[in-house]
Amino acid sequence: MGFSLSDQHQLLSKIANNDGHGENSSYFDGWKAYDSNPFHPIQNPNGVIQMGLAENQLCFDLIQEWIKRNPKASICTAEGVGEFKDIAIFQDYHGLPDFRNAVANFMGRVRGGRVTFDPDRIVMSGGATGAHELISFCLADPGDAFLVPTPYYPGFDRDLRWRTGVQLLPVICESSNDFKITKAALEAAYEKAQEANIKVKGLLITNPSNPLGTTLDRETLKSLVSFINEKSIHLICDEIYAATVFSQPKFISISEIILEEDMECNPNLIHIVYSLSKDMGFPGFRVGIVYSYNDEVVKIARKMSSFGLVSTQTQHLIASMLLDDDFVESFIGESAKRLETRHKVFTWGLSQVGIGCLKSNAGLFVWMDLRRLLKESTVEAEMELWRAIIKDVKLNVSPGSSFHCLEPGWFRVCFANMDDETMEVALRRIRAFVFQGKEVEAPVKNKRWRNNLRLSFSLKFDEGVMTPRMMSPHSPIPHSPLVRART
Ligand SMILES: Cc1ncc(COP(=O)(O)O)c(C=O)c1O
Repeated sequence: MGFSLSDQHQLLSKIANNDGHGENSSYFDGWKAYDSNPFHPIQNPNGVIQMGLAENQLCFDLIQEWIKRNPKASICTAEGVGEFKDIAIFQDYHGLPDFRNAVANFMGRVRGGRVTFDPDRIVMSGGATGAHELISFCLADPGDAFLVPTPYYPGFDRDLRWRTGVQLLPVICESSNDFKITKAALEAAYEKAQEANIKVKGLLITNPSNPLGTTLDRETLKSLVSFINEKSIHLICDEIYAATVFSQPKFISISEIILEEDMECNPNLIHIVYSLSKDMGFPGFRVGIVYSYNDEVVKIARKMSSFGLVSTQTQHLIASMLLDDDFVESFIGESAKRLETRHKVFTWGLSQVGIGCLKSNAGLFVWMDLRRLLKESTVEAEMELWRAIIKDVKLNVSPGSSFHCLEPGWFRVCFANMDDETMEVALRRIRAFVFQGKEVEAPVKNKRWRNNLRLSFSLKFDEGVMTPRMMSPHSPIPHSPLVRART
């Protein structure tokens, strides 16, 4: 006597049965394509290259050297085992004092020492994923909403909404002004919510942006603070890519803006989400932070943090590492340099085949413009092109529609989760796709897409433009999107 799937569903909660996790989106379908046929230079050279994963893997040699030089930092070495018991039994949800000091210190350094952070305001969470849910639980009730400028990280739909019952309402940003967040767009989204009788509790921004790889300028940041003050709503600033800024303009944190003399701002409305997943490249450690300027939020978030603490073993290691000022200084500098080089080589390679990207100075990805390759400017056409890229070029890139981008034809391509050789293979495949299958690394079957790419290539060269303006413009199965459903 077996239960049908629908019988089983009836035994579970509404949250368990809804699809708020969002794994059915195209964003995660691409991951599935990669999981079922992953590229390996020797064992599977025709496999799918994962370019949908915003991981920072360019500096692990520096981390490994530090680990070797500091055996005491781990409690599982002969040098560190003396601390094993104290660390293993520590269970205070405030966290190890050294850990909070180290993270506060690191956050200040990443922001060029222009601001300091109070360790007592640091609340732990399971990555930024947990931090977003935590802050959402603290600030909003089911049915309330946060405004979010598009395009935005698809994981927000899960992290802020799924278990909290909160809604996310898009603030539409467009390529015509390089996706800047304008006052008009903010007002339009706010008004729309009011008309629908939805209570807006806050604005969520990501700076530097995932997927754009751009940083917000001072003027925009100030206008956002004015907007939330005027409406008396919260501002959540996801700054988890702060140390990935590799070229000018430099990163400006919200923590700097609220200190400006001419800035009228109620600090109780400002909250920062941070993690070490991107800046240090440690998504597996699940070190996330809510940093609130609101005492009440700090208090309640700390109580709620019991559901997503960072293990003390990890806290201990991170504290030792991030309190090593010389290491932190050189790591931040070297990481930015390597990201800059990788970004340059990758975007140059794309430009050689007439593909442009939004001009960017941060992040682990580029926002690639393939609008010219669409049969028509529709989401369906974007998905058709995306499927061809996965199936024929064997690259997992993420379509703009999965980031709620309103304009079809944009794709996010990650470049820091692979070695130089794999990136070269990816560029060669793109080149081969464009140039009729010469140097073909992967089987290129779909002629029509190839023709479109060729058409676009010759169009750009006819215009005499080498680099287009954008141009200035995981679960039961390890590695499956059910498990790795964040980046
Ligand atoms: C903007 C943004 N916020 C949050 C997250 C989740 O980060 P974490 O691994 O720290 O949970 C990601 C991951 O890609 C992200 O891009």
